[in-house]
Amino acid sequence: MTTTSETVSYEIVDDVGLICLNNPPVNACGYSMRRGIFEAVKALGPKVQAIGIYGANRAFIAGADITEFGKPIAEPTMPEVCLALENCPVPTVAVMHGPTLGGGLEVAIAAQARVALPNLLTGFPEVTLGVLPGSGGTQRGPRLIGIRATLDLATSGRRIGADEALSLGLVDRIDEGEPREVALRFAEDAISGALATRRTAEITVQADRTALTEYANRMRKTQANLFAPHRIVECIALSTGDFTEGMDRERQGFFDCVASPQRAGLIHAFFAERAVAKIPIEDAIPRDIGSVGIVGGGTMGSGIATACLLAGLDVVLKEQHQRACDRALAAISKNLAGAVKRGKLTEDALANILNGKFKTTLEYADFSETDLVIEAVFEDLAVKAQVLQQLDTVVKLGGIIATNTSYLDVDELAQSTSRPDRVIGLHFFSPAHVMRLLEVVVGENTAPEVVVTGFALAKRLKKIAVWSGVCDGFIGNRILNHTRKVADYMIMDGATPTQVDRALKDFGFAMGPFSVLDLAGLDIGWAARKRRAPTRPPEERYVEIADRICEAGWFGRKTGRGYYIYGDGDPVENPDVFRIIEEERSNAGIAPRKLSDEEIVTRYLTAMASEAARVVADGVALRPIDVDAVELFGYGFPRHHGGPLHYADQVGIKTLIARIEEFATEDAYYWQVPELLRDMVEQDQVFADFN
Ligand code: 3HC
Ligand code: NAI
Repeated sequence: MTTTSETVSYEIVDDVGLICLNNPPVNACGYSMRRGIFEAVKALGPKVQAIGIYGANRAFIAGADITEFGKPIAEPTMPEVCLALENCPVPTVAVMHGPTLGGGLEVAIAAQARVALPNLLTGFPEVTLGVLPGSGGTQRGPRLIGIRATLDLATSGRRIGADEALSLGLVDRIDEGEPREVALRFAEDAISGALATRRTAEITVQADRTALTEYANRMRKTQANLFAPHRIVECIALSTGDFTEGMDRERQGFFDCVASPQRAGLIHAFFAERAVAKIPIEDAIPRDIGSVGIVGGGTMGSGIATACLLAGLDVVLKEQHQRACDRALAAISKNLAGAVKRGKLTEDALANILNGKFKTTLEYADFSETDLVIEAVFEDLAVKAQVLQQLDTVVKLGGIIATNTSYLDVDELAQSTSRPDRVIGLHFFSPAHVMRLLEVVVGENTAPEVVVTGFALAKRLKKIAVWSGVCDGFIGNRILNHTRKVADYMIMDGATPTQVDRALKDFGFAMGPFSVLDLAGLDIGWAARKRRAPTRPPEERYVEIADRICEAGWFGRKTGRGYYIYGDGDPVENPDVFRIIEEERSNAGIAPRKLSDEEIVTRYLTAMASEAARVVADGVALRPIDVDAVELFGYGFPRHHGGPLHYADQVGIKTLIARIEEFATEDAYYWQVPELLRDMVEQDQVFADFN
């Protein structure tokens, strides 16, 4: 083996040169790999009759090394590496196995033939990171698989397997074996002519105006907020022209994307998803969880049961009476039938679940064999404490008792058992079988083994677990409580719920805050406000609109009426809410004024960022990136803005303060918001320092 860089080596076997890529864990292609491939191709070209290229570990190449984005790029660049493979005087064959994504696929399609192994996972995920395929993907893709198929892959970021890659024409063969052995075998075939080879750049692209117009329109309609998808369509449109010119324009488009703040936000989100798994516990081993008990089969209990069943766990669910058991079973069956329809569960697996993997019960005694029981009963401290006490008497020694409380004190709840070290908060989000976030709420006595078990369970359920300390509302609901107040202040000052919702949706949120409140149920927040009333600081500005809506019996979607009215069609504004708003403004002596969308976004985002910073400062979140992950994966924060603290960093704290001052209000509580940011500016402390 001759090494050409720390991550690339080559060997010569008879007439064949084999290039081995080795940058664990996923062969991200950074400078070292680029240089290594470039030098290896140069060295082998004159010496052999064909070259095979493969990955030494579980991937061919997972893509360009995204940690290098935004930094100066050392040569050779990815397009130069691809050109070297394409223009090599002898045939080059890529073995596509495991993750072969983005730049990895671009390297493969620059080779002169491709063989896939069955474990292939390929596609152009660049769009999900705010960039475009920048090493020839938009130019070679259409030459190999046509304009429409390239548009589909590159604008969706969809990942496909070996069979689909073969049927599209992205690969020439599918075979089995070790990557090195397959590389050798097919390079030999390339020499003998048994495997045809050709330069992708020399293929003529079939024009497809219809597909281009269709995708351009679709991107305008569905991705209006994003930068990269439109550039992708523009670059693919150039593929019918001169190859070199197309490559130059693609490169320019790639750099424009890299320079966009959206790219930074999306890559922050990518790393946030992975960073939260890094928790400060090293030596604890997660308990093996085979069965889960659930107390309460309402909205959350049914969703949690569904999530556990979809992950193959056995589930016992306890309710108060048979009717409630039947209701839970019906809700869970409906969820599972949906999963079957979407291909997420087989008919056989569903039959297994209904024939024994899932049971309902009225007895606590049925939890004697379960490893972990999650309570999801009413949000009431006394009710939950009583449930935990009962569980403590039946759950086996060492078994874990978890609470799905939204706001209540996990430490206090733990004290109602004889095993506070085995008690933890597992805060799921609704619908629990869909939402990816799980806050793992770590109490003062929770044992490390219990914490790592919570994280392992999340992984099994394909959820993103984030460590949270104990406080009122943990990370997410604590921030929500804060931003909700600011949203209320804005409607008191002159905005309407619809305007606030629209402005924040335009900013990129999946839903506006008032629509979210209607969806979650206005009664939950109402109960929390009543609980907090005795300790609310008297100087805090308090808005009664939400309480008055609840007093009327309108709890949002579940009652058909809240901030909006829900019927068969789209929700419409609730005129009674306007009446309540006007009365409350008049009671408070407020003359409403017009708020711009910019004011709404600035006040909302600043409130969110400031409470997020406090959550970190209080030690409730481990790092700022954990708070960003909670908002991204649990609260619909726009991914391309990266999370509230990333956003604050991007805009700059000084700019945020300057903007907020334009919208001065007399509200004392509200003014705490810039105060905290001001302290940070004075100390020259920016949020990124916490990362
Ligand atoms: N660059 C740098 N690091 C990367 C990386 C990349 N492209 N892809 C993965 N990593 C890192 C992860 O951050 C993680 O690091 P950590 O262990 O320090 O947390 C480690 O590799 C392992 O990754 P995962 O935990 O995600 O491992 P999985 O096995 O769950 O998933 C994967 C593997 C499917 C490859 C997944 O990591 C993935 O989807 N990666 C991103 C792929 C991608 O988007 N590629 C395109 C990049 S952009 C590009 O190529 C531009 C080009 O057109 C010029
Ligand atoms: P829900 O009212 O839909 O369901 C609660 C269920 O618990 C009812 O079916 C009730 O019969 C059952 N129950 C009450 N006492 C019981 C007992 N002793 N034994 C067995 N069953 C009992 O409430 P929801 O919305 O499911 O909330 C449950 C918990 O989850 C609450 O703590 C809530 O704060 C929390 N939560 C709610 C979210 C939401 O969006 N709804 C999101 C995240 C957490």
